[in-house]
Amino acid sequence: MSETLADSGAYTGLLSKDLPTEQARLQLLEQSYDPGTVKILEQLELPPTARCLELGAGAGSIAYWLADRVPAGSVVAADIDPRFIDTDHAPNLTVRRMDITREDFVPGSFDLVHARAVFMHLAEREEILKRAVQWLAPGGWLVLEDVYFVPAEDSPYPEWRQAHGAWTAALAAQGIDLSWARRTPALLAAAGCTSVGVAVTPGGLGVDPVQDELLRIRLIQSGETLTGAGLLIPEQIERAKALLDSRPAPDVSTFVYSSWGRRPGV
Ligand SMILES: C[S@@+](CC[C@H](N)C(=O)[O-])C[C@H]1O[C@@H](n2cnc3c(N)ncnc32)[C@H](O)[C@@H]1O
Repeated sequence: MSETLADSGAYTGLLSKDLPTEQARLQLLEQSYDPGTVKILEQLELPPTARCLELGAGAGSIAYWLADRVPAGSVVAADIDPRFIDTDHAPNLTVRRMDITREDFVPGSFDLVHARAVFMHLAEREEILKRAVQWLAPGGWLVLEDVYFVPAEDSPYPEWRQAHGAWTAALAAQGIDLSWARRTPALLAAAGCTSVGVAVTPGGLGVDPVQDELLRIRLIQSGETLTGAGLLIPEQIERAKALLDSRPAPDVSTFVYSSWGRRPGV
Protein backbone atom coordinates (compact mmCIF):
# COMPACT_ATOMS: atom_id res chain seq x y z
CA MET A 1 0.00 0.00 0.00
CA SER A 2 1.36 3.42 -0.92
CA GLU A 3 2.30 5.91 1.79
CA THR A 4 -0.01 8.45 0.12
CA LEU A 5 -3.11 6.37 0.82
CA ALA A 6 -2.06 5.13 4.22
CA ASP A 7 -1.24 8.65 5.42
CA SER A 8 -4.23 10.42 4.01
CA GLY A 9 -6.65 10.11 6.96
CA ALA A 10 -10.18 8.79 6.94
CA TYR A 11 -12.07 11.63 5.26
CA THR A 12 -9.56 12.87 2.75
CA GLY A 13 -7.80 11.01 -0.07
CA LEU A 14 -10.30 9.05 -2.14
CA LEU A 15 -13.22 10.96 -0.60
CA SER A 16 -11.84 14.51 -0.52
CA LYS A 17 -14.36 17.26 -1.27
CA ASP A 18 -11.69 18.88 -3.44
CA LEU A 19 -12.21 16.10 -6.02
CA PRO A 20 -14.33 17.47 -8.89
CA THR A 21 -16.84 14.60 -8.76
CA GLU A 22 -17.28 14.35 -4.96
CA GLN A 23 -20.42 16.50 -4.73
CA ALA A 24 -22.07 14.45 -7.49
CA ARG A 25 -21.00 11.24 -5.71
CA LEU A 26 -22.57 12.44 -2.45
CA GLN A 27 -25.77 13.38 -4.30
CA LEU A 28 -25.96 9.88 -5.80
CA LEU A 29 -25.49 8.48 -2.30
CA GLU A 30 -28.49 10.57 -1.27
CA GLN A 31 -30.59 9.37 -4.22
CA SER A 32 -29.78 5.80 -3.36
CA TYR A 33 -30.21 5.85 0.41
CA ASP A 34 -32.55 8.73 1.28
CA PRO A 35 -35.73 6.68 0.72
CA GLY A 36 -34.64 4.09 3.33
CA THR A 37 -33.48 6.79 5.75
CA VAL A 38 -36.70 8.78 5.41
CA LYS A 39 -38.78 5.64 6.01
CA ILE A 40 -36.95 5.04 9.30
CA LEU A 41 -37.12 8.68 10.42
CA GLU A 42 -40.87 8.81 9.63
CA GLN A 43 -41.46 5.80 11.88
CA LEU A 44 -39.99 7.68 14.86
CA GLU A 45 -42.98 10.06 14.81
CA LEU A 46 -40.93 13.12 15.74
CA PRO A 47 -43.02 16.03 17.04
CA PRO A 48 -42.90 19.27 14.97
CA THR A 49 -40.87 20.82 17.82
CA ALA A 50 -38.11 18.18 17.74
CA ARG A 51 -34.47 19.27 18.03
CA CYS A 52 -32.40 17.32 15.51
CA LEU A 53 -28.71 16.82 14.84
CA GLU A 54 -27.64 15.64 11.39
CA LEU A 55 -24.04 14.60 11.85
CA GLY A 56 -21.73 14.48 8.81
CA ALA A 57 -24.46 16.10 6.72
CA GLY A 58 -22.57 15.72 3.40
CA ALA A 59 -24.56 17.32 0.56
CA GLY A 60 -27.40 18.17 2.95
CA SER A 61 -30.52 16.32 1.78
CA ILE A 62 -31.47 14.71 5.10
CA ALA A 63 -30.80 17.95 7.02
CA TYR A 64 -33.16 19.73 4.57
CA TRP A 65 -35.78 16.99 4.91
CA LEU A 66 -35.61 17.23 8.71
CA ALA A 67 -35.90 21.02 8.63
CA ASP A 68 -39.18 20.64 6.69
CA ARG A 69 -40.32 17.79 8.94
CA VAL A 70 -39.91 19.76 12.23
CA PRO A 71 -41.07 23.30 11.30
CA ALA A 72 -41.37 24.38 14.95
CA GLY A 73 -38.16 22.61 15.94
CA SER A 74 -34.53 22.97 14.91
CA VAL A 75 -31.89 21.14 12.91
CA VAL A 76 -28.13 21.36 13.31
CA ALA A 77 -26.25 20.10 10.24
CA ALA A 78 -22.71 19.43 11.47
CA ASP A 79 -19.84 18.52 9.18
CA ILE A 80 -16.08 18.74 9.25
CA ASP A 81 -16.36 20.31 5.77
CA PRO A 82 -19.87 21.70 5.14
CA ARG A 83 -19.11 23.36 1.79
CA PHE A 84 -21.94 21.54 -0.04
CA ILE A 85 -24.69 22.46 2.44
CA ASP A 86 -26.94 25.46 1.72
CA THR A 87 -26.87 27.57 4.90
CA ASP A 88 -30.00 29.48 3.76
CA HIS A 89 -32.14 26.42 3.07
CA ALA A 90 -34.52 26.96 6.02
CA PRO A 91 -34.77 29.34 9.00
CA ASN A 92 -34.67 26.45 11.48
CA LEU A 93 -31.46 24.96 9.97
CA THR A 94 -28.04 25.81 11.42
CA VAL A 95 -24.93 24.62 9.60
CA ARG A 96 -21.90 24.02 11.81
CA ARG A 97 -18.36 23.27 10.71
CA MET A 98 -17.07 20.89 13.35
CA ASP A 99 -14.89 17.85 13.81
CA ILE A 100 -16.99 15.52 15.92
CA THR A 101 -13.87 13.75 17.21
CA ARG A 102 -12.72 17.03 18.81
CA GLU A 103 -15.91 18.89 19.76
CA ASP A 104 -18.94 17.94 21.79
CA PHE A 105 -22.58 18.89 22.41
CA VAL A 106 -24.31 19.66 25.70
CA PRO A 107 -25.90 16.47 27.13
CA GLY A 108 -29.66 16.23 26.55
CA SER A 109 -29.66 18.73 23.62
CA PHE A 110 -31.43 16.67 20.94
CA ASP A 111 -34.54 14.55 20.32
CA LEU A 112 -32.88 12.96 17.28
CA VAL A 113 -29.27 12.36 16.32
CA HIS A 114 -28.78 10.88 12.85
CA ALA A 115 -25.57 9.99 11.01
CA ARG A 116 -25.23 8.08 7.75
CA ALA A 117 -21.92 6.85 6.36
CA VAL A 118 -20.03 8.86 8.98
CA PHE A 119 -19.06 6.74 12.00
CA MET A 120 -17.23 4.19 9.84
CA HIS A 121 -14.80 7.05 9.04
CA LEU A 122 -14.10 7.93 12.68
CA ALA A 123 -11.25 6.21 14.50
CA GLU A 124 -13.03 6.82 17.85
CA ARG A 125 -16.40 5.54 16.55
CA GLU A 126 -17.37 3.47 19.63
CA GLU A 127 -16.55 6.29 22.04
CA ILE A 128 -18.49 8.82 19.97
CA LEU A 129 -21.50 6.49 19.81
CA LYS A 130 -21.58 6.53 23.64
CA ARG A 131 -21.28 10.34 23.63
CA ALA A 132 -24.06 10.66 21.04
CA VAL A 133 -26.43 8.78 23.39
CA GLN A 134 -25.67 11.41 26.03
CA TRP A 135 -26.52 14.24 23.60
CA LEU A 136 -30.08 12.89 23.52
CA ALA A 137 -32.86 14.09 25.77
CA PRO A 138 -34.75 11.27 27.54
CA GLY A 139 -36.88 9.51 24.90
CA GLY A 140 -34.66 10.82 22.06
CA TRP A 141 -33.53 8.63 19.17
CA LEU A 142 -30.09 7.82 17.82
CA VAL A 143 -30.14 6.56 14.22
CA LEU A 144 -26.83 5.31 12.85
CA GLU A 145 -26.39 4.11 9.29
CA ASP A 146 -23.13 2.75 7.93
CA VAL A 147 -21.94 0.66 5.02
CA TYR A 148 -20.98 -2.98 5.52
CA PHE A 149 -18.79 -4.33 2.69
CA VAL A 150 -19.04 -8.01 1.80
CA PRO A 151 -15.73 -9.59 0.69
CA ALA A 152 -14.73 -8.53 -2.84
CA GLU A 153 -13.33 -12.00 -3.56
CA ASP A 154 -16.86 -13.45 -3.48
CA SER A 155 -17.94 -11.45 -6.55
CA PRO A 156 -18.92 -13.65 -9.52
CA TYR A 157 -17.20 -11.13 -11.84
CA PRO A 158 -13.36 -11.28 -12.02
CA GLU A 159 -13.21 -7.62 -13.18
CA TRP A 160 -15.20 -6.61 -10.13
CA ARG A 161 -13.14 -8.73 -7.76
CA GLN A 162 -10.14 -6.64 -8.87
CA ALA A 163 -11.76 -3.19 -8.97
CA HIS A 164 -13.93 -3.55 -5.87
CA GLY A 165 -11.09 -5.30 -4.04
CA ALA A 166 -8.71 -2.40 -4.79
CA TRP A 167 -11.30 0.14 -3.65
CA THR A 168 -11.97 -1.63 -0.34
CA ALA A 169 -8.23 -2.12 0.30
CA ALA A 170 -7.68 1.60 -0.26
CA LEU A 171 -10.57 2.57 2.04
CA ALA A 172 -9.28 0.28 4.77
CA ALA A 173 -5.82 1.83 4.38
CA GLN A 174 -7.42 5.25 5.01
CA GLY A 175 -8.64 3.94 8.38
CA ILE A 176 -12.27 3.31 7.38
CA ASP A 177 -13.91 0.36 9.14
CA LEU A 178 -15.80 -1.60 6.48
CA SER A 179 -17.54 -4.01 8.84
CA TRP A 180 -18.34 -2.11 12.03
CA ALA A 181 -21.91 -1.41 10.85
CA ARG A 182 -22.90 -4.94 11.81
CA ARG A 183 -21.98 -4.25 15.42
CA THR A 184 -24.01 -1.04 15.79
CA PRO A 185 -27.31 -2.53 17.09
CA ALA A 186 -25.42 -4.38 19.85
CA LEU A 187 -23.39 -1.25 20.64
CA LEU A 188 -26.54 0.88 20.88
CA ALA A 189 -27.97 -1.61 23.37
CA ALA A 190 -24.69 -1.69 25.33
CA ALA A 191 -24.77 2.13 25.50
CA GLY A 192 -28.14 1.92 27.26
CA CYS A 193 -30.54 2.40 24.34
CA THR A 194 -33.90 0.65 24.27
CA SER A 195 -36.23 -0.17 21.33
CA VAL A 196 -33.16 -1.09 19.25
CA GLY A 197 -33.95 -1.99 15.64
CA VAL A 198 -32.18 -2.58 12.35
CA ALA A 199 -32.87 -2.53 8.60
CA VAL A 200 -30.51 -3.20 5.70
CA THR A 201 -30.37 -1.81 2.15
CA PRO A 202 -28.37 -3.72 -0.48
CA GLY A 203 -26.06 -1.95 -2.91
CA GLY A 204 -23.76 -3.03 -5.73
CA LEU A 205 -23.31 -3.68 -9.39
CA GLY A 206 -26.57 -4.07 -11.33
CA VAL A 207 -28.74 -3.50 -8.25
CA ASP A 208 -30.39 -0.42 -9.80
CA PRO A 209 -29.40 2.41 -12.19
CA VAL A 210 -28.51 4.84 -9.37
CA GLN A 211 -26.18 2.29 -7.78
CA ASP A 212 -24.52 1.73 -11.18
CA GLU A 213 -24.02 5.48 -11.59
CA LEU A 214 -22.57 5.68 -8.07
CA LEU A 215 -20.12 2.87 -8.88
CA ARG A 216 -19.20 4.47 -12.21
CA ILE A 217 -18.40 7.82 -10.58
CA ARG A 218 -16.42 5.99 -7.93
CA LEU A 219 -14.30 4.30 -10.60
CA ILE A 220 -13.70 7.63 -12.35
CA GLN A 221 -12.91 9.41 -9.08
CA SER A 222 -10.59 6.77 -7.66
CA GLY A 223 -8.94 5.47 -10.85
CA GLU A 224 -5.84 7.60 -10.79
CA THR A 225 -5.26 7.13 -7.06
CA LEU A 226 -5.69 3.36 -7.27
CA THR A 227 -3.33 3.04 -10.22
CA GLY A 228 -0.87 5.43 -8.57
CA ALA A 229 -0.93 3.25 -5.46
CA GLY A 230 -0.20 0.17 -7.57
CA LEU A 231 -3.52 -1.44 -6.64
CA LEU A 232 -4.87 -1.52 -10.23
CA ILE A 233 -3.62 -0.98 -13.75
CA PRO A 234 -5.58 1.29 -16.14
CA GLU A 235 -6.78 -1.72 -18.19
CA GLN A 236 -8.45 -3.17 -15.09
CA ILE A 237 -10.36 0.05 -14.57
CA GLU A 238 -11.50 0.03 -18.20
CA ARG A 239 -12.62 -3.61 -17.85
CA ALA A 240 -14.62 -2.73 -14.72
CA LYS A 241 -16.31 0.17 -16.56
CA ALA A 242 -17.15 -2.15 -19.47
CA LEU A 243 -18.68 -4.62 -17.02
CA LEU A 244 -20.89 -1.83 -15.62
CA ASP A 245 -21.96 -0.89 -19.16
CA SER A 246 -22.88 -4.51 -19.94
CA ARG A 247 -25.76 -4.41 -17.40
CA PRO A 248 -24.74 -7.60 -15.61
CA ALA A 249 -26.94 -9.58 -13.24
CA PRO A 250 -26.82 -7.97 -9.77
CA ASP A 251 -23.81 -8.50 -7.52
CA VAL A 252 -24.54 -7.14 -4.02
CA SER A 253 -21.28 -5.86 -2.52
CA THR A 254 -22.56 -3.65 0.31
CA PHE A 255 -25.35 -3.43 2.83
CA VAL A 256 -26.23 -0.16 4.49
CA TYR A 257 -27.04 -1.11 8.06
CA SER A 258 -29.53 1.31 9.56
CA SER A 259 -29.68 0.90 13.34
CA TRP A 260 -31.69 2.88 15.84
CA GLY A 261 -32.21 3.04 19.56
CA ARG A 262 -33.87 5.26 22.13
CA ARG A 263 -32.47 6.89 25.22
CA PRO A 264 -34.69 5.68 28.07
CA GLY A 265 -36.55 8.07 30.31
CA VAL A 266 -39.96 8.82 28.81
C1 LIG B 1 -19.77 9.60 3.13
S1 LIG B 1 -20.22 11.23 3.57
C2 LIG B 1 -21.92 10.97 3.98
C3 LIG B 1 -22.74 12.19 3.84
C4 LIG B 1 -24.21 12.08 4.27
N1 LIG B 1 -24.32 11.71 5.66
C5 LIG B 1 -24.94 11.08 3.40
O1 LIG B 1 -25.04 9.91 3.78
O2 LIG B 1 -25.43 11.46 2.33
C6 LIG B 1 -19.49 11.47 5.19
C7 LIG B 1 -19.64 12.90 5.71
O3 LIG B 1 -19.12 12.93 7.05
C8 LIG B 1 -18.31 14.09 7.20
N2 LIG B 1 -17.30 13.81 8.25
C9 LIG B 1 -16.28 12.95 8.17
N3 LIG B 1 -15.54 12.98 9.30
C10 LIG B 1 -16.12 13.90 10.12
C11 LIG B 1 -15.83 14.39 11.43
N4 LIG B 1 -14.76 13.96 12.12
N5 LIG B 1 -16.65 15.32 11.98
C12 LIG B 1 -17.73 15.79 11.27
N6 LIG B 1 -18.05 15.36 10.02
C13 LIG B 1 -17.27 14.42 9.45
C14 LIG B 1 -17.69 14.29 5.82
O4 LIG B 1 -17.21 15.62 5.63
C15 LIG B 1 -18.83 13.91 4.90
O5 LIG B 1 -19.64 15.03 4.58
